[in-house]
Amino acid sequence: MSDTFKAILVSRDAEKKQSVEIVDLTEADLMEGDVTVAVEATTVNYKDGLAITGKAPVVRRWPLVPGIDFAGTVIESSHADWRKGDKVILNGWGVGETHYGAYAARARVRGDWLVPLPDGMSPHDAMAVGTAGYTAMLAVMALERHGIVPDRGPVVVTGAAGGVGSVAISILSTLGYHVIASTGRNAESPYLIDLGAAEVISRDELSQPAKPLAKERWAGGVDSVGTHTLANVLSMTSYGGAIAACGLAGGMDLPTSVAPFILRGVSLLGIDSVMAPKAVRLEAWRRIGADLDLKKLSILSRSIGFDGIIGAARDIVEGKIRGRVVVDL
Ligand SMILES: NC(=O)c1ccc[n+]([C@@H]2O[C@H](COP(=O)([O-])OP(=O)(O)OC[C@H]3O[C@@H](n4cnc5c(N)ncnc54)[C@H](OP(=O)(O)O)[C@@H]3O)[C@@H](O)[C@H]2O)c1
Repeated sequence: MSDTFKAILVSRDAEKKQSVEIVDLTEADLMEGDVTVAVEATTVNYKDGLAITGKAPVVRRWPLVPGIDFAGTVIESSHADWRKGDKVILNGWGVGETHYGAYAARARVRGDWLVPLPDGMSPHDAMAVGTAGYTAMLAVMALERHGIVPDRGPVVVTGAAGGVGSVAISILSTLGYHVIASTGRNAESPYLIDLGAAEVISRDELSQPAKPLAKERWAGGVDSVGTHTLANVLSMTSYGGAIAACGLAGGMDLPTSVAPFILRGVSLLGIDSVMAPKAVRLEAWRRIGADLDLKKLSILSRSIGFDGIIGAARDIVEGKIRGRVVVDL
């Protein structure tokens, strides 16, 4: 009989009531793929919280092992790019949504979905960055492509104490930007300043319905909140600026007007990490290796064990997690 390993499984019954449990699986239970990986570290992202609690329809295949990202070592491969012993990272591609994911000691995936672990980074480090941090880097790269360099003026980061926010502040400050962090947790100001924020503002300043245009406060920004927050951020963006939108922690709607776009030439840059092409991922992870001060990872992350995943998933959808949670397997 092959060895069993622990996995988290979400299921639903005939009434579509969702449940979550820890089960034993064998490699024969895993889904199709040409590379099998021993998962060494994973993480709890906002989307994992939604998948485990069922608060949004992230899971689209039942039952499912959730977990949208992992780092580990290849133990079997029939894919030309990967050999036994290679250290790899996976982010997205529907893993943890439609394909068995990271919350198991073993994962079988398509080799095309994997990227190499950057030199000098451990699986734990890579998951302290995780999908939230890789998305933050995609947002920074989008701002740069739009010409939002540090000399253009301050940049705002909303949902600052969350995963995307914490990594975005770390990267932007290391690159020399003047970062304004917006948080609903004012007690986290010392933490945000430690990460490199130059100013901390209250989330309340951005949460009311937005005017079409307001006083210009920043040249760019990274928004992980959506709804009124993103509308206010856009209305306060200076002429020719750009905002990278990557999240919906506050809501999925966007109650804005065209004024920032047609009167100030502001751009809204969409960020998707899940289906990003491989070349973009490779560049994002290369830039993370180059531009993220790894010392900041110990400030913005904490470790839990496998048994802590379900509790952390519940906490993250309630906005109770600071920075990143790494699961060491
Ligand atoms: N586009 C992509 O590919 C992609 C990839 C990764 C994540 N995301 C999305 O990005 C968002 C952030 O992900 P994450 O992993 O950073 O989650 P997270 O760690 O939970 O951070 C979200 C932060 O948003 C703020 N927030 C929470 N609820 C809010 C509310 N009701 N109103 C205003 N602010 C609120 C909180 O920050 P403060 O306490 O500091 O205010 C919270 O820490 C999520 O929506 C996630 O789905 C998208």
